[in-house]
Amino acid sequence: MGDVIDDGTGADTAATTDTPTDTGTSVRERLDGGEVTAYRRIHEASLRDPEGFWREAARGIDWVTPPTRILDDTRPPFYRWYPDAELNVCFNALDRHVAAGRGEQPALHYDSPVTGAQETITYAGLLARVARFAGALAGLGVEKGDRVVIYMPMVPEAVVAMLACARLGAVHSVVFGGFAPQELAARIEDAAPKVVVSASCGVEPSRVVPYKPMLDEALHRSTHKPESVIVLQREQLRAAVGERDTDWEEMTWDEVDADAEPADCVTVAATDPLYVLYTSGTTGRPKGIYRDSGGYAVALRWSMANIYDVAPGETMFTASDVGWVVGHSYIVYAPLLTGATTVLYEGKPVGTPDAGAFWRVIEQYGAVCLFTAPTAFRAIKKDDSSASKLAGHDLSRFRALFLAGERLDPDTYAWASGALGKPVIDNWWQTETGWPIAANPKGIGLLPIKPGSPTVPVPGYDVTVLDGAGEPVPPGVEGAICIKLPMPPGTLPTLWGDDERYVSSYLSAFPGYYLTGDGGHLDEDGYLYVMGRTDDVLNVAGHRLSTGSLEEALAGHEAVAECAVIGVHDDLKGQVPRALVVLKSGIDAETEGERIRSELVARVRAEVGPVAALHRVDIVAGLPKTRSGKILRKTMREMADGKSPVVPATIEDVAVLDTLAPVLRSSGPS
Ligand code: COA
Ligand code: AMP
Repeated sequence: MGDVIDDGTGADTAATTDTPTDTGTSVRERLDGGEVTAYRRIHEASLRDPEGFWREAARGIDWVTPPTRILDDTRPPFYRWYPDAELNVCFNALDRHVAAGRGEQPALHYDSPVTGAQETITYAGLLARVARFAGALAGLGVEKGDRVVIYMPMVPEAVVAMLACARLGAVHSVVFGGFAPQELAARIEDAAPKVVVSASCGVEPSRVVPYKPMLDEALHRSTHKPESVIVLQREQLRAAVGERDTDWEEMTWDEVDADAEPADCVTVAATDPLYVLYTSGTTGRPKGIYRDSGGYAVALRWSMANIYDVAPGETMFTASDVGWVVGHSYIVYAPLLTGATTVLYEGKPVGTPDAGAFWRVIEQYGAVCLFTAPTAFRAIKKDDSSASKLAGHDLSRFRALFLAGERLDPDTYAWASGALGKPVIDNWWQTETGWPIAANPKGIGLLPIKPGSPTVPVPGYDVTVLDGAGEPVPPGVEGAICIKLPMPPGTLPTLWGDDERYVSSYLSAFPGYYLTGDGGHLDEDGYLYVMGRTDDVLNVAGHRLSTGSLEEALAGHEAVAECAVIGVHDDLKGQVPRALVVLKSGIDAETEGERIRSELVARVRAEVGPVAALHRVDIVAGLPKTRSGKILRKTMREMADGKSPVVPATIEDVAVLDTLAPVLRSSGPS
């Protein structure tokens, strides 16, 4: 295969695998260069002697009880890293840096173009705020192991609340603010929090989003009720707090925080949970990813030096949201565990105020890298295709752009690297793993970039592509991307309260391997290509959504007999959902169709959230299914994307699919 490679400087050095590049060296020679040798040596060492490798990496963390055992592999397929070690993650993120003299260094720059607020918080300042809020939580009875749900916009208090939980050994579960009450309720139900921390509102460019009514509705729907609810009052919209009769106590952030006694760090086992982060599977029931404390801290600290190449004292700008895993790992924990400075950006890549927003932030805070999703760059490119807004910004300290969350298409890669003239580094991972599975390990040494590939498996990950029978496929052949067990520290050891679902969702397809749910291939050089999900999980603007949640929302409408949601290609968001619904008999699509369609769009927005971005609903006569009743979503998705899918032999009635074909292939509004 004639892979195109790039030297990572943004210069145009495209070449095929065996032809010389304009630098006079062939790709093969360049892949045998020093960086590649260093990477291969480290990757091989990590697989040959994982315990030795992760024993060494554990030195990046301060332990209360240092690990003597590195991996507990006595209960496969369940593995635990650092089984006899103890630590506190908040201590590692804050206290130890203050003790080491970083107290006056900025820990966090809060930059909010949607409200006009900007605030720099030093390490000493953040520690004081976190210790005080931890005291406030402790005053409400929060103890080690208790859960705290955090449903907040991108404000410093969200980070304070997360770290305060970590300080107490309590388990936070952050819910993305763009989710509607039903999604929040499902998470409250599963996590069973003692306290919920929220805010009066979020601020989107076009509107102020009242959070409190959504929280009230979620608590009404959930059978689990917390003991206390804390609401941060924001001046853009204040909420009614504690005015109603509720089973729980409601108070404002200021009320609980003002006089709280600062709390000390509580020691936890390395294997104790730091947080539960819910992510979407195929069904409507989200999966609670269990994140341990010690393994995660070690892995993140290692990744900052070896993948992201960010040193203590430097600034990292991750434009995501604390509600997603990218936000947990690279807005909050990894930069702070490193003693670096993070940027908390409450805004968008475009429209706040324009497509130059990221360049302004990079310059203002001297960021050495930006980490965001490709969709953000597609949005910037759409608004400012010549990258004219870059002009006049001093990006001299900026070294690299990291992109993740969805496939980095070669066009977006080419535009971003051309505009920035700096390496553009794709990295592939998931909520489940917590940190990259495949990346270009810039800290070890930048490997030649092949657009379309997130480069190579990260040390610690034994990545294999398997066929349907569980056999490894040769280079170039597509299959299911799997990771040989045990996975490295930081990755999920199980699902929250559900070992069985952990095994059935991820480990049972191919014994001995973790199934990523993504399909793709490795090439002759060991570069990985990730082509997309093999299940029905949607990825809309880098946001992972479940078809099941959207379908449940649609099915709840009285006119709907049956429905299916598929994710179809979108030039800006990567994918957008499309719904196909069959109406109950007796309902006339001619006269009622328009009303029903707009009600369905509104229902998904109200039940799942605006991020679902469902705008197209087609009313159809029937849905194609297998003889056992499984809806052929993948076949429909491929047809909608203009491909010619292989129709499964098990299809019940091929005529249904034939009738649907023109609807699926038409790209206009319904
Ligand atoms: N709270 C409330 N509503 C939210 C929200 C939040 N935290 N985040 C998004 N929404 C709303 C938006 O206001 C929008 O509502 P609208 O339909 O009324 O306009 C809707 O959800 C969709 O939002 P979004 O997905 O952000 O799309 P967009 O069209 O507003 O912007 C991009 C498109 C590409 C600019 C935007 O998706 C983006 O910045 N993406 C970056 C990717 C990212 O952060 N990914 C996370 C993983 S790395
Ligand atoms: P999330 O759990 O929300 O981080 O979403 C994880 C999923 O997003 C993965 O399983 C992939 O399908 C997709 N994804 C994330 N990063 C990449 C990437 N760099 N390339 C291709 N797909 C990606």
